[in-house]
Amino acid sequence: MPNQIEKRKTDHIQICLEENVQARHVTTGFDDVCLIHKALPEIDRNKINPSTVVLNHKFSAPLIVEAMTGGTAEATKINVAIAQAIEQLGLGMGVGSQRAAIENPKLESSFKIVREKAPTAFLIANIGGPQIARRHGVKDAEKTVKMINADALAIHLNSLQEAVQPEGETNYKGVLNKIKEIAQALDVPVIVKETGAGISAEEAKILENAGVAAIDVAGAGGTSWAAVEYHRAKKLQDKYRQRLGETFWDWGIPTAVSVVEATQSVHLTVIASGGVRLGIDIAKALALGADLAGLALPILRPAMKGSEEVKKELQLIIEELRNTLFLVGADSVQKLKEVPVVITGKTADWLRARGFQPEAYARQRAKTKD
Ligand SMILES: Cc1cc2nc3c(=O)[nH]c(=O)nc-3n(C[C@H](O)[C@H](O)[C@H](O)COP(=O)(O)O)c2cc1C
Repeated sequence: MPNQIEKRKTDHIQICLEENVQARHVTTGFDDVCLIHKALPEIDRNKINPSTVVLNHKFSAPLIVEAMTGGTAEATKINVAIAQAIEQLGLGMGVGSQRAAIENPKLESSFKIVREKAPTAFLIANIGGPQIARRHGVKDAEKTVKMINADALAIHLNSLQEAVQPEGETNYKGVLNKIKEIAQALDVPVIVKETGAGISAEEAKILENAGVAAIDVAGAGGTSWAAVEYHRAKKLQDKYRQRLGETFWDWGIPTAVSVVEATQSVHLTVIASGGVRLGIDIAKALALGADLAGLALPILRPAMKGSEEVKKELQLIIEELRNTLFLVGADSVQKLKEVPVVITGKTADWLRARGFQPEAYARQRAKTKD
């Protein structure tokens, strides 16, 4: 008999595979972020090096597969497919919340298998903010890291999901203190990640002061957990929760905005995620100052088919990134930090209203005449 957490995880995967769970009216903001085409790139596309070193680890491209799953037989299959693909490609991945395996050690194998299949890749353990606050923070955190011999621990923040799901843990009191304790105690870097609603400049600063090593913004514009819970509530004929899911479907800070808010206010490693779908999105996120990009939902379907499908999808995204680098004349991802970026529309308005200067990303004024 599957327990409640396992059943919920299975429902989430099924809903993400079958229903529209992406933002409807809010976008990531990447459409407002324009890289300037360089007609004379003066570089050889074949010599472009997309590799990068982040958190002391070399990634063949600035890309990770974000935390999704674990704890069930289906999850094991998904985790194996992703792990094999990222090991072969030299990328990284996060596992889904390990809470169920902490409560029931029988479920550990669905997570442990990830390290077996990806012995050298960058692996990120995962645990929820409210859970560490309610249980033994440091002890649980250490257990999750050890379980997969992880290179980092992600503590996820999901207040939006908790607020719209029937069994939500809506007491966030004490989460920050536990994050502080864990960041101090662990000997691997701690990443604090959102799950689709973004992280603001103020929160990024608080997290920096708490001693975390990195922030994964997971902003709005991609997978919406309010949408996932909307579909779940609909299946359960829970009209009250269905309404909550619908109301908050598009809640959150758009990913491009959140990347600027974070990178402009802290000196931490910043991972851009939430609706990152194309290699162009990755290039834009890095040009805005992010160090890595991550994506979850687009990898779920290929992962159901196996590691070759995951590999194909990731390789395509890396080729798109390579093309973008070529077209802006950058022969490395580091050079993206110097290319001019034009930020327009709602994203520019939002940033200006928050005291940032979108114009500064143009790097230099275009000159046509001396
Ligand atoms: C099926 C599924 C399960 C997820 N489970 C977790 C989880 O257990 N822990 C976590 O931190 N994030 C989880 N996420 C959130 C993702 O890691 C990511 O932050 C979010 O989906 C935004 O990225 P996307 O728009 O590329 O999907 C999950 C996402 C999906 C699609």
